[in-house]
Amino acid sequence: MRESVWLATADLPRYPVLESDLEVDVAVVGGGWVGLTTALLAQRDGARVAVLEAARVGSGTSGYTTGKVTSQHSLLYADLVRRHGEEDARRYADANQAGLEKVTALVHELGIDCDLTRAPAYTYTRQPDQLAEIEAEVDAAARLGLPAALAAETDLPFDIVAAVRFDDQIHLHPGRFLGGLAAAVTAAGGQVLELTRVTAIDEQPDGTVELTTHTAKVRANQVVVATLLPLGVTGGYFAKTRPSRSYGLAARLTAPAPASMTISIDSPTRSTRPWPTPGPNGLIVVGNGHETGAEPDTEAKYADLEEWTRSTFDVEAIDYRWSAQDYSTPDRLPYVGRSPTSRTVLVATGFHKWGLSNGTAAALMLADLLAGRDNAWLPTFDATRIGDAKGIGELIKDNLKVGKEFVGGRVARLSSIPADELEPGHGGLIDVDGDTVGAYRDPDGDLHAVRLTCTHLGCPLRWNPAETSWDCNCHGSRFDADGSILNGPAVEPLEEVELPVEP
Ligand code: FES
Repeated sequence: MRESVWLATADLPRYPVLESDLEVDVAVVGGGWVGLTTALLAQRDGARVAVLEAARVGSGTSGYTTGKVTSQHSLLYADLVRRHGEEDARRYADANQAGLEKVTALVHELGIDCDLTRAPAYTYTRQPDQLAEIEAEVDAAARLGLPAALAAETDLPFDIVAAVRFDDQIHLHPGRFLGGLAAAVTAAGGQVLELTRVTAIDEQPDGTVELTTHTAKVRANQVVVATLLPLGVTGGYFAKTRPSRSYGLAARLTAPAPASMTISIDSPTRSTRPWPTPGPNGLIVVGNGHETGAEPDTEAKYADLEEWTRSTFDVEAIDYRWSAQDYSTPDRLPYVGRSPTSRTVLVATGFHKWGLSNGTAAALMLADLLAGRDNAWLPTFDATRIGDAKGIGELIKDNLKVGKEFVGGRVARLSSIPADELEPGHGGLIDVDGDTVGAYRDPDGDLHAVRLTCTHLGCPLRWNPAETSWDCNCHGSRFDADGSILNGPAVEPLEEVELPVEP
């Protein structure tokens, strides 16, 4: 997996593995943006907290974002008002503005050196027939109390038709922010444990919850599952969300980069923000999203993003390239709160690629729930809801598609090749003694073979050439060439296949 600019330049410390059984008030599963913020807030409320991270702090989507913390979420608010009414839309807006301000407050309180910068954010179109959409968004957002205005230009080097402008939004270095949060959790007496994958969450007769890991067990009074998509089958969220991937790069230009944050509503999406680390010429560009496991040529996504960047700006060098995973919900609202199946398990998922403001808002809500306080935003984010009629229709459509992918994937297994025809650096289906398995031949010529049945719920997997991974279109689990988990909800690796010795 390619490392993001944020993780490559964060210098994050290592935290220990869980080695013996542990009892805490609150166990937080996932050491990313939501998990660490919730852990810190709970610790400050007096709870004994442990954060259990399957890999490394920030190594999930949190360390692979654009690093924009903004309540401007492309075109959203007019649609939220239409779907849910003004009260719910206002709560979403308030929660995200509060999330943004909480991030700012934490950076200042904790003295985190993460390049936090205030800047305007623009959602723009270059298509005249999209003008009405932009105007409707400005009207809705302004009515909800957001700092929205109509703009006719940005500081991008091309003309636009119109944009929604939000003032006083922020961008930062997410890796360093996460490092600051983790340090604050441990400084306040909490524990951060890495390489500690939770594989099961079981409620006990006495009302506590037992978490199983590969090394030891954790007993907790309350559990927060903050793993992008709740792990395993927790709460059934795998069936109520859709996974997607998008691509990012960090470029150095020959002249100062635009100082604002921008995102297009025209397809394909282009999102930019400054990258202050190398100086004023640094620029982050993100876009080219697609459903996880649905795109055979993922290398082309990087190439297309790079071509747009080079044709739009005068580029000196591109230093980093990476991709990220996100989940969306049918009704465009995240799920935050108590899981429908448990009073003691809390969840947060479905941030629609806007997980930094939404993530901190979620942490504020979860901390209130953990401490028994009321929270005015929670009814809007209700994690037990099924969704509105339109959302349910979309969910059914998506589930049918999952079924088709399942059948289609089984058929695709027929098109395997003999192992010796798989070139170095390539992955695909090979035939092993009449059995079709997935294989990757690394640049040294060694074959890595795995069974292509997703360990979550059994869907087939597709090779992702750009990330050298096996990706599941059903609910977004991903595995490396040796079968280790890169993304849940799967909690067990793929089965490795013993290969006959090659001549
Ligand atoms: Fe659910 Fe693969 S992620 S079956």
